Amino acid sequence: MISNILSKAGLLAAFAVNAAFAASSVPTISAVGSKFFYSNGTQYFIKGIAYQLTEADPLIDTAQCQRDATVMATLGTNAIRVYHVDPSGSHSGCMTAFADAGIYLIVDLDTFNTAIDPTVASWNQTQFNAYAKVMDAFAPYDNTLGFFVGNEVIALANQSLAAPYIKAAARDLKAYRSSKGYREIPVGYSAADISELRPMLQNYLACGTNASESIDMFGLNAYEWCGDKTLETSGYSTLNTYAQDYNVPIFFSETGCNTVQPRTFEDQSAIFGSAMNDLWSGAIIYEWIEEANNYGLISYGPSVDATIVASGVQAGFSRTGTPTAVLPDFTNLQSQWATLTPTGIASSAYTTSITPPACPSSTAGGWLVDGDVKLPSVGQTQQVSSSGSAPSSTGTATSSVTGSAASASATTKKGGASGGKEIAGMSAGLVAVMLGFVYWL
Ligand SMILES: *[C@@H]1O[C@H](CO)[C@@H](O)[C@H](O)[C@H]1NC(C)=O
Ligand SMILES: *[C@@H]1O[C@H](CO)[C@@H](O)[C@H](O)[C@H]1NC(C)=O
Ligand SMILES: *[C@@H]1O[C@H](CO)[C@@H](O)[C@H](O)[C@H]1NC(C)=O
Ligand SMILES: *[C@@H]1O[C@H](CO)[C@@H](O)[C@H](O)[C@H]1NC(C)=O
Repeated sequence: MISNILSKAGLLAAFAVNAAFAASSVPTISAVGSKFFYSNGTQYFIKGIAYQLTEADPLIDTAQCQRDATVMATLGTNAIRVYHVDPSGSHSGCMTAFADAGIYLIVDLDTFNTAIDPTVASWNQTQFNAYAKVMDAFAPYDNTLGFFVGNEVIALANQSLAAPYIKAAARDLKAYRSSKGYREIPVGYSAADISELRPMLQNYLACGTNASESIDMFGLNAYEWCGDKTLETSGYSTLNTYAQDYNVPIFFSETGCNTVQPRTFEDQSAIFGSAMNDLWSGAIIYEWIEEANNYGLISYGPSVDATIVASGVQAGFSRTGTPTAVLPDFTNLQSQWATLTPTGIASSAYTTSITPPACPSSTAGGWLVDGDVKLPSVGQTQQVSSSGSAPSSTGTATSSVTGSAASASATTKKGGASGGKEIAGMSAGLVAVMLGFVYWL
């Protein structure tokens, strides 16, 4: 069945699954300075795929993970990103299937009802407990690469006051990681690409003199490179400028604009090429499964009417079965990655002298957090002022926010798939409409 897919996609000869992966133990990966390294000292660059077949948890169906991991290995994938999991599930079958294929996991610790709400930001005990459970569930696996404490929590340019809550979450989950004696699996944040907040958000989350209170890695969901672009015309040269001297690993936690079809993934040659590979640690392509948003690299069969209720079918798409390549996108990505193998630097030759960035000052109507503000403690809720500008927090009251920003944010708490462009500049309503297609990420 697999060989059928392989020959369909024309892959068999060049990319047979490496028999060496038969052993299920893999070297762990850690963040040192601005880079990731395998425990044997070789630098690791992410060639990742966003993977969320089912709303609650795609890592409990071992047979499905095995089918997908096998095809992912032929694509050249070495990581998946999963946005929502159920920590009470049994994940060892899937984690072993991915480890056997040399594939690592970045998992988001939050889920629908525990994510930080940017309109009334809070960091509370319920959230902490939920995030900690996910950490407990995945920290034991050698192929766990990292944790995100949030995905696009800040979805609009005027939501930057939520940033201290994101940072507080990272601080507390890092402290929890130490208290449990887990290895230092990087804890980071995955940001929407909002031009007004660049580079302040990335710098704020990493800034400060106490590394226990800042993120270990930063992911950017960027859909700037659509079709035939260059480093300059895509905007990547600007992103590259901001990555200069960044002190922790930075990478694309979602990429793969689809406004120009078919997708050729030429941005990969920039990210893994000499202009960027000293600063960036790779990219995660959005996404594995074909859905209504049309970003899929594989499908599990033809789409059906969205109203059909059947086992393994949701929102008009089968979510289980044999993965079949979406062509030519699948082979386009495969060809890109096959030629892009930066060696990077050996950890033994790497000396980290980079210091954290300065904590950015606030600007009127722009970045609203002024410098290295005191982080909220667990239980604090943002005091929303009527002007929406004062970076204050309180241990007590929770204001309620209504209106368009609040409803937009309710629909933007998902995997990104920002319709292939920066969210900045779009009306909240448009963002809501576009993201409505991606109903759970
Ligand atoms: C370290 O491990 C990685 C992943 O297994 C492998 O690709 C790389 O070749 C190894 N490096 C060395 C120096 O053995
Ligand atoms: C904690 O935060 C979550 C997510 O914003 C919220 O749904 C929940 O009501 C809060 N719990 C408490 C006790 O404040
Ligand atoms: C650094 O931050 C951690 C977590 O907030 C705290 O426990 C520790 O005391 C801080 N260290 C210093 C030197 O301030
Ligand atoms: C934030 O920006 C959005 C979109 O530009 C706007 O609709 C909303 O009213 C703004 N919210 C605040 C609190 O200013």
